[in-house]
Amino acid sequence: MVNFKGIIAEQIAKTVNINKEELESYIEIPKDTNMGDYAFPCFKLAKELKKAPPIIANEIKEKLEIDEKIIKKVEIVGGYINFYINSIIIIEDVLKNFEERKEDFGNTQVGKGKTVIIDYSSPNIAKPFHIGHLRSTVIGGALYNIYKYLGYKTVGINHLGDYGTQFGKLIEGYKRWGSEYKIEENPIDELTKIYVRINELCKEDENVLEECRNNFKKLEDGDEYCKNLWTKFRELSLKEFQKVYDLLESKFDSWNGEAFYVDKMQEVVEILEKTGKLVESEGARIIDLGEKMAPCIIGKTNGSTTYATRDLAAILYRARTYNFDKALYVTSYEQILHFKQIFEVAKLLGIDEKYINGLEHIPFGMVRLKEGKMSTREGNIIKLEDLLNEAISRALKVIEDKNPDLEGKEEVAKKVGIGAVIFNDLSNNRIKDEVFDWDVMLNFQGETGPYIQYIYVRTKSVIEKAGYLPQLKEIDITKLEDNESFAIAKLLYEFSNVLEDVTLKNEPSILSRYLIDLSQSYSAFYNNNKIIGEDKAVQDARLYLTYVVGSILKIGASLLGIQMPDRM
Ligand code: ARG
Repeated sequence: MVNFKGIIAEQIAKTVNINKEELESYIEIPKDTNMGDYAFPCFKLAKELKKAPPIIANEIKEKLEIDEKIIKKVEIVGGYINFYINSIIIIEDVLKNFEERKEDFGNTQVGKGKTVIIDYSSPNIAKPFHIGHLRSTVIGGALYNIYKYLGYKTVGINHLGDYGTQFGKLIEGYKRWGSEYKIEENPIDELTKIYVRINELCKEDENVLEECRNNFKKLEDGDEYCKNLWTKFRELSLKEFQKVYDLLESKFDSWNGEAFYVDKMQEVVEILEKTGKLVESEGARIIDLGEKMAPCIIGKTNGSTTYATRDLAAILYRARTYNFDKALYVTSYEQILHFKQIFEVAKLLGIDEKYINGLEHIPFGMVRLKEGKMSTREGNIIKLEDLLNEAISRALKVIEDKNPDLEGKEEVAKKVGIGAVIFNDLSNNRIKDEVFDWDVMLNFQGETGPYIQYIYVRTKSVIEKAGYLPQLKEIDITKLEDNESFAIAKLLYEFSNVLEDVTLKNEPSILSRYLIDLSQSYSAFYNNNKIIGEDKAVQDARLYLTYVVGSILKIGASLLGIQMPDRM
């Protein structure tokens, strides 16, 4: 597509002694369209040129040789040079590019030849899949899709919490009371009950605790009975987690959890020993990380390994197996220290610096429930599957109110309900705590998933009402001279930048915001311009623009993991 920033930078470069690339990076897109479509701030030049920014702006402007077909007006406001581009040029450019690229629009292939690992979801076996894991699943899934779209090789890893001393306890509990619990029917709930009960008993009786430790030791040594039980707990838990993954349509390339690294930790310990930095402290083996951070515990007092050691073994394994450029870990901010520690210790593993530089924790905020708005079971644990199903049934209720005769209501309700939950997770900066409020997230007029779906459905119904879709070559682009078409075209033009920005910041909310902006722009276009029944040439042009907006909304939403209904 036409590189407007590049054209502007090239002209400015002829007037000052700074290279084009750097100048291009200064150019801004003003929020207020009254300040032009692109703005060049002269403040950064002021120091070097020893002149006031407005004077510099004027001097540059005088010397610019601008093609008026592309840039129709240049204006100075304060220290800024504001450029107004010819709207038809950008509209034509975007529509032609869409016609060529279609399902691939905005895919710049920047990721070609690069590999990104995304470690996400990662719930713990025999424990509830909680709402924090939902956020990880949704954020990680969106990042996965977007990197992939941009041409990266992506590896989605579900680093299951399927190892640790708790299994020694579960085995002991099961041994004692297994037959009393219906773990096949309701694995997580029942295993949780067993876990609570055995913990109580351990507190009362040292000997039981000792038994639990023995079980874990046996599990580590490959004891048949213990291993079979562990496998059973894992399989049953996975089957239950799968219900959530099915609803969200989440997929992973690898399910290698913590247990996968059991036989790979020894090497880590040996490497660390050789560095001389692995020291004894109060019976544990630790790596001291200086003043700034708590030490990283590699081996516990009782000799067993830790979550951190397993993560170190995973770094080593992933570097060797995937030759990654980036390895992202999507968890709540509660684990910030953990990742700081292991990334620091990873420097001692002797792997290429490229891998160390590629490690990145992607933390996100907590989910706060708006009280009384969510059905909780005893305690405060919300079963995720129930929560997603509640989203679907609430969506169904809204649809029944608005459009009782809709065909295939259940299917639509599923897309709307799940879409609402996903969008809610992705709508704000990930690090912010999120409020879980049904009324807000299911509001069809709010900044929500259902709103985007609603606008998408509108684009479909406009085209359906017209009964045809013109070809690009048949339309007269100059008929799209209204401000709203221009605003839409500018957004479409930004699509690939938005996607790249998501990957630079690992922030899917940039795309969510964008889809809201695009939906609102289409809504303004729709409200201010008659699409059907105008002069045929105008109608054709507006129909085509409608079609392109619908297509991009659909591509964007699917990158977030949200499906579009055809009607709602
Ligand atoms: N299972 C962990 C939890 O639920 C998350 C694992 C994240 N990934 C990792 N490689 N540590 O908190």
